[in-house]
Amino acid sequence: MNTLLLNSSKESILTAAKFLKSGGLCAIPTETVYGLAANALDSGAVAKIFAAKGRPQDNPLIVHIASLSMLEELVLYIPDSARRLTQRFWPGPLTIILPKSGKIPNEVSAGLDTVAVRMPAHSLALELITAAGVPLAAPSANLSGSPSPTCAAHVMADLNGRIDAVLDGGSCTVGVESTVITLASEKPRLLRPGAVTPEQLRELLGEVEIDPAVLSQLQAGEAASSPGMKYKHYAPKARITIIEGDLQSFNEYLQAYSKHSKAFALCFEGEEGAIPLPCVSYGRQECPDEQAARLFDALRRLDELGAERVFARCPAKEGLALAVYNRLLRAAGFDVRN
Ligand code: TXA
Ligand code: MG
Repeated sequence: MNTLLLNSSKESILTAAKFLKSGGLCAIPTETVYGLAANALDSGAVAKIFAAKGRPQDNPLIVHIASLSMLEELVLYIPDSARRLTQRFWPGPLTIILPKSGKIPNEVSAGLDTVAVRMPAHSLALELITAAGVPLAAPSANLSGSPSPTCAAHVMADLNGRIDAVLDGGSCTVGVESTVITLASEKPRLLRPGAVTPEQLRELLGEVEIDPAVLSQLQAGEAASSPGMKYKHYAPKARITIIEGDLQSFNEYLQAYSKHSKAFALCFEGEEGAIPLPCVSYGRQECPDEQAARLFDALRRLDELGAERVFARCPAKEGLALAVYNRLLRAAGFDVRN
């Protein structure tokens, strides 16, 4: 299959909408990461997403909408808590899980009785959903297991030849996937941290539980509340270790590897000169928004440079940095040293 690279013109949006309406796949920009979209109401089209990504069948997809009236058709009911969240954070990087209506094919929800929905804050995505006239199921537009794509070139690197088109909307401003919260459980529960922080959610909802899988590895046999969390993710080819502590102790840890030709540091911007290994940086230490916007590109860079062993400076564990830490933790297979 020849993958069309489309620009952001009106004509391109109509072309992309045509692919989607006829059961095809199109990668689309959002403010978080690029998504691989198909008509969410067409089970055959949705099945193609799993094939193109090599995604496990039991990992459900997020449905993207452009209006609140679309939400009403997709879920059984909209609780007051959901209304408060959508009013404050949509369009934006927040995905809400609710009991699904009969309109949602099993392929989308991977057999669960809930559906994850979000309204992305990207004009091209919203225009495309409106032009297609249907909600779009879209996981991140990477091959399963590799870092999520934050620009059209990342999508092409993974999916060229496997999908109909990529709509190029430039680099994603947020850079890590949306916050996922379920309102289908007894208490609101955060399943994946993102740019909408636990602190912001608690301001609106009161108590919000943090799923244990956000910061720790599921044990064998343990059920995941969000199936995606049990898979290895965001992983470059190199083995990554996160080093907690300050720059000085980081450098001390690295001494033993300074002669290793394929060892790299994944550091904060501005630290490169002080580190005894070749470096790839992912934003300034005090700027979690920069870290979020650059992490996935930095992981892909390490692959391009042939890194085999990577030591990463550790982000903070609150606010948006919690989302950065959560992704880095998975890229490192939970290997953290102090
Ligand atoms: O920012 C984002 O959320 C991006 C853009 C494209 O919107 N999408 C994205 O999709 O990150 P994906 O498929 O890579 O991640 C969706 C996550 C997975 O961990 C999945 O298991 C979880 O959401 N999820 C989806 N539906 C769910 C459901 N009904 N119950 C629990 N978890 C669900
Ligand atoms: Mg993903």
